[in-house]
Order: sequence, then structure tokens, then C-alpha cells
Amino acid sequence: MTASIRTLRTGMVGMGMIFDETYRPFFERVHREGLYERSFGDIDVPLTAVATRTGSRAEAYRKSAGSNIGAFQSFAGEDSVAQMLKAGVDIACVATPDDRHFEAAQAILSAGIHVLIEKPSVLDMAQLDELVALAARKGLLAKVVYHKLLDPDHKKLRTFVHDGVLQHVNNGYCSLLEPKSISGGQFAEWIKGRNPGTYVAVHYIKLIDFTFGGRLKTVMATGQRGIVGAASGPTWDSNQLRLVYEYADGREAAFDIHASWVNPDNFPGYVEQEVQFRFDNGVWNGHSRRRGIECTVEGKTPCEVKITINTHYNGTFVEPWGDRTQRGYGIEVLERFAREVARVEWGGPASERAARLSTAQSLAYNDLAADRQVVAAVQSLEAILDHASRGMPDGVVRVNGDAGGLALYLPGQPAPQVLYSPMV
Ligand SMILES: NC(=O)c1ccc[n+]([C@@H]2O[C@H](COP(=O)([O-])OP(=O)(O)OC[C@H]3O[C@@H](n4cnc5c(N)ncnc54)[C@H](O)[C@@H]3O)[C@@H](O)[C@H]2O)c1
Repeated sequence: MTASIRTLRTGMVGMGMIFDETYRPFFERVHREGLYERSFGDIDVPLTAVATRTGSRAEAYRKSAGSNIGAFQSFAGEDSVAQMLKAGVDIACVATPDDRHFEAAQAILSAGIHVLIEKPSVLDMAQLDELVALAARKGLLAKVVYHKLLDPDHKKLRTFVHDGVLQHVNNGYCSLLEPKSISGGQFAEWIKGRNPGTYVAVHYIKLIDFTFGGRLKTVMATGQRGIVGAASGPTWDSNQLRLVYEYADGREAAFDIHASWVNPDNFPGYVEQEVQFRFDNGVWNGHSRRRGIECTVEGKTPCEVKITINTHYNGTFVEPWGDRTQRGYGIEVLERFAREVARVEWGGPASERAARLSTAQSLAYNDLAADRQVVAAVQSLEAILDHASRGMPDGVVRVNGDAGGLALYLPGQPAPQVLYSPMV
């Protein structure tokens, strides 16, 4: 990165559904408008190179985007990430299936490039430790996308908690219901052995962890099989996860998070989401269907157009001044990463870069170093489900107990299996 050019050349690993929904509108907007902030000035953020499995999505995108995007190089196959890095990028985003984040992120950081990873960041603590250490050693940002933290409803919840309007959470539930088209179509290529908890419940694990703080103590989980894969196999239709937290005053809270990806495609909304959190002095209820809109269009709803539209996530609009735009928190979260990198690199004198880097790394909403309890919950969920699918159900993981950071207790087994020895 040279100060005279002020260009953040961007690499993209994976160009699937989430690329279409959020990265594409982000790249097209910065292609058109650049990115400006008084601290770092006017910068370019071009999509420079992409890495995918087959290259077909990249070519389809190149065709459909036309002049809405600049020229970019496309690499496919086993070696695509290395080739993308060789092409020359300053930041790179990873949006591959969740069990393929680590290798790409490790290669990117090793090459001295800032990285942004889709949720869940990685699937176990050892991988997280490795990426956090790499980022620290190389003086880079390693961040993860949890766009629901930028949802205005969740920001209001956190503001009430932060300001003490809502006091001491005691328990709560969340549910995230994805349509069948996700597990049966969109993700069919990589879904074997995967579960909807890791894929989507993780949004609410992060919301709970970030909003309420506290220390994760216990993870329990179960689930159902038989629709996406065999009833006795490793692929899950739905999961129920329970997390127990303890707070500084010694009191506990429990959260149940239900996730499924086998619900009807003719849902009124795209993903149906619901939360309820109970406090000492209040109750917070959130439901995607009660956000405000119910719209019916003959012949279009509920499949082509949804009845309960989420206009906050990445809505497409004709603005009052005539422009067509696509905007929302799903796109804002990506732009913030570009801004955070630009502030580190150009937001003041070069001699103060280390201080700016440390400020950006202290942002708990997206820094990998602050993702420990979320990854611990994910690793525990994966281990409990894996054992269940191999005939050892009803496992419980205790966090930072006598046996280590993550210890899996299985009924009938005299000693726990240590999944991660250091403290979480
Ligand atoms: N923020 C969100 O709410 C949200 C929503 C959906 C998905 N996601 C996350 O985004 C990621 C991708 O999900 P998706 O829905 O776009 O999946 P997808 O299946 O639609 O797309 C995956 C993409 O990754 C590419 N790919 C697969 N393996 C690769 C490899 N080894 N190297 C390079 N490219 C590879 C594929 O070619 C494809 O382009 C997942 O981690 C998922 O959890 C986040």
C-alpha cells in the first residue's frame, strides 16, 4: 500500500450466496463512489482478484455486473487462493463454506494481508489461536462478519443493556429457521457432515456473547436428522443448543438457540428469526415478522417476493432522489472493515500506525481475538453432534473447568475428553 495511490486492492475467496447478497453491492458501490473519511481521505477499494472452486460463479458475475465493476482476475481450483495473493491484494475476504475458512485465512495472513472472514470465523480454538497469533505477529487486522450486531434492533437491545435500562439477563431463547432450499439446493455441494447450528445459530451466540458479556460455562446440544441426510448419519436438519453463562456477580443465565434449515420455502419471510430475553426488570421480544412490513403481491409472494421483507439487511430501493441503491447493515458491516483498515494504514502519521492498529484490534464486535467464547461454543457444538452421530449422545461441554478449557463429558464415560486444554 503506497500513500500516493491510496488503493485497497481487495481479494475475494468464495463467490456464493453471501457474495451476491452483500459483497457484490459493496464492491459495486465503492467502484462507483470510492470511500472517503477525513482521517484517511478519498481511497479506491477495487475488487482485484477472486478465488473460487470452479471459476464459474466468477465468470457469471463478471458478465452480469458489466460496467458496474472494474476488471478483476479470477483463479479457480486447489491453488486459487495462493494465485489470488500473488496477483497482489491489500485486503481479502473469505466467504467459503464454514469448514474451509481456516486454510484460506491462514494463507492470507501469512502473506501479510488483512483478512475479513464470514461467520463462524473458524470451527475450533486451535485454529483461532493460530490466526490471532499470525495477525499479531504480522501487525494485521483479522476480523469476522457478524452482521446481525449492526441490525438496528440488536443495537437498541445492546444500548438498553449497556445503559442499564435492561438489567441482568436471566435467560432467553432464539430461533433461526432457514428454508429447505438452503440445505437441499444452495448448499447441497458441501452440506455433508454439517449442521445448521454452526451455520446460523452462531449469529445469536455472538449476539448473546457480545451484548451480555459474562463467562461461558456450559454447552449442551441435540438435534434431528433424516431429511437432509440419513437419520443415523452426520448431517443435521435442526439443532437445539443451550449455553450457560456466569456473570461477575456470580449469577447465571441460560440461553436456548434453535436452528433449522429444513423449513418450507413458502415461508412469509426469508429466514424467520425470533428472540426473547428476560431480565430482572424487563422482557425483550424480537421477531422478524413483526418488524413492520406485510406485503402481498398476487403471483409473487411468498416465494419470489417475501411477505415480511427485511428492508434493514440489504434492501433494494429507488431512492427519493431517483438513484437505484442496495443498502443495509449486511453491506455496512463490510464497508466498516475497509474503513478500519484504511484508518490503520492512512488515518494519521506512519509513526502512529501501531496505536491505530491496536485501537482497531480492540473492537470486540469483529476482532478474531474477541471471538473466543463464540468459537468455543461452536467447537463444543460440533464435538457434541459428532459424538451423537457416532452413537454417543447427550454430551455436555464444561468451559474452563478442572479438566481444561473445553472438556466433553459423555454419559457412562468415567473421564472427560479434553477438546482444548488452555483456558478459553
Ligand atoms: N453473514 C451472513 O449472514 C451469512 C449468510 C450466508 C452465508 N454466510 C457465510 O458465508 C460463507 C459462504 O456461504 P455462502 O452462502 O455464500 O455459500 P455458497 O455455497 O453459496 O458459496 C460458497 C463459495 O465458496 C467457494 N469455495 C468453496 N470451497 C472453496 C475453496 N476451497 N477455495 C475457494 N473457494 C471455495 C465456492 O466456489 C462458492 O463460490 C459461509 O461461511 C457462511 O456461513 C454468512
